[in-house]
Amino acid sequence: MAIPRLSSLMLLSTLFVISISWQASAYSAPEKFVQCLLNHSQPSYPIGPAIYTPNNASYSSILKSYLRNLRFNTSSTRKPFLIVTALHESHVKLSVICAQVHNLQMKIRSGGHDYEGVSYVAEVPFFILDMFNLRSINVDIKSETAWVQAGATLGEVYYRISEKSKFHGFPASVEPTVGVGGHFSGGGYGNMMRKYGLSVDNVVDAQIVDVHGRLLDRKAMGEDLFWAITGGGGASFGVVIAYKINLVRVPEIVTVFNVTRTLEQNATEIVYRWQYVADKLDDDLFIRLTMEIVNGSGGDNNKTLRASFFSMFLGDSERLLSVMNKSFPELGLKQSDCMEMSWVESTVFWAPFPYGTSPERLLSRNPQFHKHFKRKSDYVKKPIPKAGLKWIFQKMIELDSPALTFNPYGGRMGEISASATPFPHRAGNLWKVQYATDWDEEGSEASEHHIDLTRKLHMYMTPFVSKNPREAYFNYKDLDIGINHNANVKASYLEGRVYGIKYFKDNFDRLVHVKTKVDPSNFFRNEQSIPTLPY
Ligand SMILES: Cc1cc2nc3c(=O)[nH]c(=O)nc-3n(C[C@H](O)[C@H](O)[C@H](O)COP(=O)(O)OP(=O)(O)OC[C@H]3O[C@@H](n4cnc5c(N)ncnc54)[C@H](O)[C@@H]3O)c2cc1C
Ligand SMILES: *[C@@H]1O[C@H](CO)[C@@H](O)[C@H](O)[C@H]1NC(C)=O
Ligand SMILES: *[C@@H]1O[C@H](CO)[C@@H](O)[C@H](O)[C@H]1NC(C)=O
Ligand SMILES: *[C@@H]1O[C@H](CO)[C@@H](O)[C@H](O)[C@H]1NC(C)=O
Ligand SMILES: *[C@@H]1O[C@H](CO)[C@@H](O)[C@H](O)[C@H]1NC(C)=O
Ligand SMILES: *[C@@H]1O[C@H](CO)[C@@H](O)[C@H](O)[C@H]1NC(C)=O
Ligand SMILES: *[C@@H]1O[C@H](CO)[C@@H](O)[C@H](O)[C@H]1NC(C)=O
Ligand SMILES: *[C@@H]1O[C@H](CO)[C@@H](O)[C@H](O)[C@H]1NC(C)=O
Ligand SMILES: *[C@@H]1O[C@H](CO)[C@@H](O)[C@H](O)[C@H]1NC(C)=O
Repeated sequence: MAIPRLSSLMLLSTLFVISISWQASAYSAPEKFVQCLLNHSQPSYPIGPAIYTPNNASYSSILKSYLRNLRFNTSSTRKPFLIVTALHESHVKLSVICAQVHNLQMKIRSGGHDYEGVSYVAEVPFFILDMFNLRSINVDIKSETAWVQAGATLGEVYYRISEKSKFHGFPASVEPTVGVGGHFSGGGYGNMMRKYGLSVDNVVDAQIVDVHGRLLDRKAMGEDLFWAITGGGGASFGVVIAYKINLVRVPEIVTVFNVTRTLEQNATEIVYRWQYVADKLDDDLFIRLTMEIVNGSGGDNNKTLRASFFSMFLGDSERLLSVMNKSFPELGLKQSDCMEMSWVESTVFWAPFPYGTSPERLLSRNPQFHKHFKRKSDYVKKPIPKAGLKWIFQKMIELDSPALTFNPYGGRMGEISASATPFPHRAGNLWKVQYATDWDEEGSEASEHHIDLTRKLHMYMTPFVSKNPREAYFNYKDLDIGINHNANVKASYLEGRVYGIKYFKDNFDRLVHVKTKVDPSNFFRNEQSIPTLPY
């Protein structure tokens, strides 16, 4: 388990000090870092084939294969001086140890879906520890559990579960190319959240490489650190190698529908009504509401708002129709709107791939859409008055591009205590809001324009959303709500508190204590990492 010929960081530091005195400043820190990796690599797992410098022909394609926001696909975006595509956990240990010896900023990337590119962009010189090769998935139906490595994608997890059972699934994002490493460590929700909670509510063990280069499981890391990496973000605490998850039971047949209504089709009334029922419905039913601006008929200047009620029901269409008739008749759901399918087919529908796409598509790591985008989040605790809805819809028509998605809570989400995991947004929240703007135009001017529109819609929503703090979802990373420059301990704590309270509320303090204990020198840091205690 330990790195051969090296029992501790201290020993390696000593070696390095000696090598400095031998070589004076003939080599730069990145070069010395590479030497450190190569010199200490295990003969049975050589690290050479995992090291990509900008001189390697495939450096650029490796960098871009998990760059998921085209906002950061520009020539002026800072590039890493190195990418380590770990092939074995010893490569993770070496990267952590050598980076500390050479005082280098490390970014950890699994699926690369960070909204702000935090896993592959930095303000300072940095390297990427890329986890995509560590992607094994071991499903054990007998114990209803699976070990999934950080570099696996959710689509792969869903597919591998479905290969072994028609009656099991896992509650996580509907986007199949999202990575396990970032998604689970930051919470993780999907369309079974009302029934089974978040991904982290179903995580039972983990493996992490800590700041000393040790590979620890839940028992070895202790409950505090395990708690922290189930919602507090992995990248502040260590490198997550794998999670062990409890599979959840799903029926052989589930039902999905996507019903849309424009303003002319009574969208305002139906959205208003949705607010009173969505979090109280049968736990088997999840109705996501997305509102976006579309062209109406009769010319360019006739925009309208279209509300999509995109839904997942853990049961057949007959029972769904009776639930809807009882709880939400205003939507007017008909049998012909309902599509019955297996659970894994529903993950394909929700991706959303065209109806009828084969589940094998879940194994593709190539996302369906390549976009520039900006996201923000909010939480709503009481329904928005009808006049408020009308006003917001008018503002959306003026702004045109940002869309709003409401993801209803209630059910299991309200039963789990706010301190059970670092994710604090439980009982009392009716739904989470996502602000989403996508665009195709290149360039910083287009970016600034669309980001500004997103911020405006977020500002218009102020009267209707949570306050003190204005809560936000950590996995919807948004650098607008605060950045940590990690300059010194005190400044870093104060900066960290600004966004930390919004993401984690009262759990922030416990995260800071865990951080201070496991990584006092703040090696695992980024633009929104958990700071250490300043005293
Ligand atoms: C198209 C799209 C759809 C999404 N849909 C949902 C959704 O439905 N539900 C939801 O909850 N979220 C959703 N998200 C957000 C998503 O959960 C987060 O962006 C998540 O962090 C992505 O994980 P990743 O491994 O792909 O990203 P990465 O960019 O690789 O990582 C994200 C963060 O986690 C850190 N990290 C990654 N791997 C590790 C590791 N092994 N150890 C320690 N730290 C690590 C990174 O350093 C970074 O800070 C979506 C994102 C996108 C782009
Ligand atoms: C790596 O090993 C070489 C050859 O043994 C040695 O010259 C060099 O100083 C070592 N570098 C580091 C960073 O350990
Ligand atoms: C990167 O390039 C060097 C020099 O050409 C080569 O030795 C090394 O194998 C390459 N690394 C990878 C991972 O291909
Ligand atoms: C990223 O930018 C490069 C040019 O800099 C371009 O060739 C490539 O197509 C872009 N990637 C995507 C997915 O658009
Ligand atoms: C729902 O249906 C509308 C109208 O047909 C369509 O434009 C939209 O893309 C669908 N939503 C999803 C998520 O597929
Ligand atoms: C619109 O909704 C209201 C309230 O639910 C209802 O009374 C009315 O009949 C609906 N109108 C149409 C055209 O559906
Ligand atoms: C605008 O579009 C809506 C929805 O398509 C349509 O019902 C309405 O008649 C259109 N108005 C005009 C003035 O064309
Ligand atoms: C809406 O209309 C505008 C102006 O005519 C056009 O540029 C745009 O492509 C249309 N959008 C859609 C989704 O059809
Ligand atoms: C809905 O319920 C009412 C009575 O509550 C009943 O008359 C009606 O037939 C039901 N409709 C459907 C589609 O089940």
